[in-house]
Amino acid sequence: MKIANWSKTLKNNFLFQAVADKLKQFKSKYPEKEIINMGIGDVSLPLADEVIKACTFAANEMGKSSSFRGYSPNGGYDFLKQKIKDEYKNLGILVNTDEIFISDGAKSDMSNILDIFSSGNTCLIPDPVYPVYLDTSIMEGMKIEFANAVEQNNFLPEPDFNKKVDIIYVCSPNNPTGAAYTKNQMKKWIDYANSCDAVILYDAAYEAFIEDNDLCRSIFEIPESKTCAIEFKSFSKSAGFTGMRCGYSIVPNDLQRENASLNHLWSRRHATKFNGVPYIIQRAAEASLSDEGKLECQKSIKYYKQNAKLISEVLNKLSIKFFGGLNSPYIWLKCPNNMTSWEFFDYLLQDLNIVGTPGSGFGKNGENYFRLSCFASREKTQEACNRFLKLL
Ligand code: MLT
Repeated sequence: MKIANWSKTLKNNFLFQAVADKLKQFKSKYPEKEIINMGIGDVSLPLADEVIKACTFAANEMGKSSSFRGYSPNGGYDFLKQKIKDEYKNLGILVNTDEIFISDGAKSDMSNILDIFSSGNTCLIPDPVYPVYLDTSIMEGMKIEFANAVEQNNFLPEPDFNKKVDIIYVCSPNNPTGAAYTKNQMKKWIDYANSCDAVILYDAAYEAFIEDNDLCRSIFEIPESKTCAIEFKSFSKSAGFTGMRCGYSIVPNDLQRENASLNHLWSRRHATKFNGVPYIIQRAAEASLSDEGKLECQKSIKYYKQNAKLISEVLNKLSIKFFGGLNSPYIWLKCPNNMTSWEFFDYLLQDLNIVGTPGSGFGKNGENYFRLSCFASREKTQEACNRFLKLL
C-alpha cells in the first residue's frame, strides 16, 4: 500500500485550517479576550424569511407519504434549474436546464471538476487566489503554472499567447484581491482558450457583489465562451448558504474536447459519485431566487458592503493602502511597516484581538498583504474599526 503522491508535496495545512488552529490556541490561552473574526468569509446574517418558509414547507412535505421525495434526480431538480435558467435569461444568456448541475457548493465543484480531465494537464492558476485551486490541482497530479496578479496589473493577469496551458482558473471578482474582469478583458482569455483548446474554470462565487456594469457577471455574457468555459456559482455568499451548502455549475453542450462532450462527462461523474443536494436545500435555494427572496438577499449584500465601506474609511484614515471592498466582500490591504502577512496576523490577533487571513496563504504574490472579510455583524465590524483606529 502506498499513500497518495500529493501527501509529499502539499502544504501541511489548508489555509483556513491553519488560521483556525492559531485562533484555537490563542483562545485557550486567553479565554477572556473578545475576538472579532474577519478571517474566513463566513456570513453572519440569518437566512431570508422566504428561504426559511420554503425549508419549513419542504420539511413538512417530507413528512407525508403523498409528497415525500427520495433521491434527487441526477444534476438536481428542475424547479431549481428553471429558476437558475431564468436568472441567466435576465442577463441575456440562454442556458439549457441540461447544462446546469446542482451541487453542494463551488468549493467541491471546483475540485471535483478535475475528475473529467486527465492528470498531467497544465493548470494556469492566478497568484494570489482561493487556495483550493492549487491544492486540488496538486492532489489530481496536474502540472502547475501561475498567472501573476500584482499591483502593476491591477491584480488582473492577461493571457500569454506564447504559452500553452490546458486548464485556466479564473476567479472574478477575485478572492482575495477583489479585482474583477470587465467583459472586454474576459474576451481576451476566451480568445486565448479557444486558440489553444484550453478550458476556463470560471468561479463566479462573488458575482452578487458586482456593482459596475462593465464587469463580467457571467462568462457566458461573451458568446464565444460556450466552446471553452465552465462556470461555477454558489448560494453561499449570495444567499447566506455557507451552512446550507448549495451551488451549481454550467457546462455548455457546445464544450467538446477530443470528440467528447464535457457536459456528458460531468453528468457521468455526477451520477457515479454524487447523490445530490437534499430536496429541502434545493427548495431553499429556489426560494432565494424568488422575487421576495432576491430582495431579502440583496439587502444582506448591501449590509456587508456597508461593512466594507466602514473598513475602507478607517484604512484611508490610517493611510493603509488597500484594494477591493467595492465589487467584493473582501478588503485586500498592504501590511503596514513592511510586515509579512503572518507577522501582521499575529500582531492583529495579539494586540487587537482581530482575526484576518494572511495574504501569503493565497500565493507567493500575497506576501505582505492581508485579507479582511466584511461578513461580520455591523456591531463587530464597527468595534474592529474602533480598535484599528485606537491601536494601529
Ligand atoms: C474564503 O474565506 O475564502 C471562503 O469563505 C472560503 C470558501 O468559500 O470556502
